[in-house]
Amino acid sequence: MKKINFLDLGNQPLANNYLTKKNKFKKEKKYRLKVCFENTTKLVSIEKIFPSKLMFNNKYPYRSSMSKTMIKSFQSLSKFIIKEFKPKKILEIGSNDGAFIKNFNKNKTIGVEPCSNVEKITRKLNFNTYSEYWSKKLSKKLLKKFGEVDVVYSANTLSHIKNLNEVFNAINIILSEKGILILEDPSLIECLKRNTYDQFYNEHIYVFSTIALENILKKYNLEIFKIDKLSIHGGSNRYFIKKKTNQRRIHKSVITHRKSELNYGLNNITTYRKFATRVKKSKIKLNKIFKKLKDKNKTIIGYGATAKSTTILNYCNIDYNTIDYFLDTTKDKQNKYTPGSKIPIIKYSGLDRNKIDYIFLGAWNFKDEIFKKEKKFIKKGGKFIIHTPYPKIL
Ligand code: TMP
Repeated sequence: MKKINFLDLGNQPLANNYLTKKNKFKKEKKYRLKVCFENTTKLVSIEKIFPSKLMFNNKYPYRSSMSKTMIKSFQSLSKFIIKEFKPKKILEIGSNDGAFIKNFNKNKTIGVEPCSNVEKITRKLNFNTYSEYWSKKLSKKLLKKFGEVDVVYSANTLSHIKNLNEVFNAINIILSEKGILILEDPSLIECLKRNTYDQFYNEHIYVFSTIALENILKKYNLEIFKIDKLSIHGGSNRYFIKKKTNQRRIHKSVITHRKSELNYGLNNITTYRKFATRVKKSKIKLNKIFKKLKDKNKTIIGYGATAKSTTILNYCNIDYNTIDYFLDTTKDKQNKYTPGSKIPIIKYSGLDRNKIDYIFLGAWNFKDEIFKKEKKFIKKGGKFIIHTPYPKIL
């Protein structure tokens, strides 16, 4: 299958590889981040894929529970699942620190999370969680121990796994005939519309469209029967999937999504080339904004040292000379430095308008939550810099 490169995001470090004081000056591993389109399945992916063990290990810094938005979203989904599907057993692939499974009875859930530093958080609370990679072997082991499951849920995880063949075969082993698979990932059409090119980094191998996912799923006798559009992570889709043998009705949302993607041109390389042009313009504009502020001696800091912002900062050549420091609530990121750009990350403890003029919003995907929290700073004339849908000061 032929892949066509359409976007070159330059030399990038590993996005979650926060530097310690000790290794800050050591040469970082860098790779060329290119994004490509595969014409048969219409799948968009990054070109260079790293071994999972290099990224998902016992030092993974990401915590789902760090955002109120995520917690709320998992709570309301859990309520819906209980009401709608009445599951006896639920399996989550990529359970992280348990933000989703904690909404269920302990003996009803199984969590799979290869990053042992986060997995142990739920194991200590007596949840059935496994610090392993999702695979056919593990699925067979869990089937033997717990029996079939009625709901498999996976949010922001499948886009991180290279071997989708193994993923879906393993799901088919443990999911009951009438079982429901729920997948949630950033939406490709939203990524293109909002120019959020930072959805691409070494961990995000794929950004799925409905049409690509349908092309993949059919190989495993799975089909989407409903799609919910979410505002999470800058626009995500929640796909409700069933086995083809399950007679459940296909909801009109599937047809609507498919149609709007085809109308937008997600099946056509020209659409992606146009996106690449917009990305190049975005870089120029963002650099102009930073230069103008720096020329005026404004103090600029960052808010939310996200993996996504690693792509932006390194693509746009923005580093510690421009951004004084990042604030972040994640303990494992604090007192470290952003990959490549080497900007110090400091523990969040509120904003002091007297010391800060402008804030680059790394966690733009939690803009509403953050703007609500920082009402006072904004009222006192503090400003934010954001890159989506185009670089601007807010
Ligand atoms: P994510 O975009 O990959 O989910 O990462 C969000 C990051 O932003 C994570 O490191 C936590 C951080 N963050 C804050 O520091 N303060 C906040 O209020 C929110 C919502 C996130």
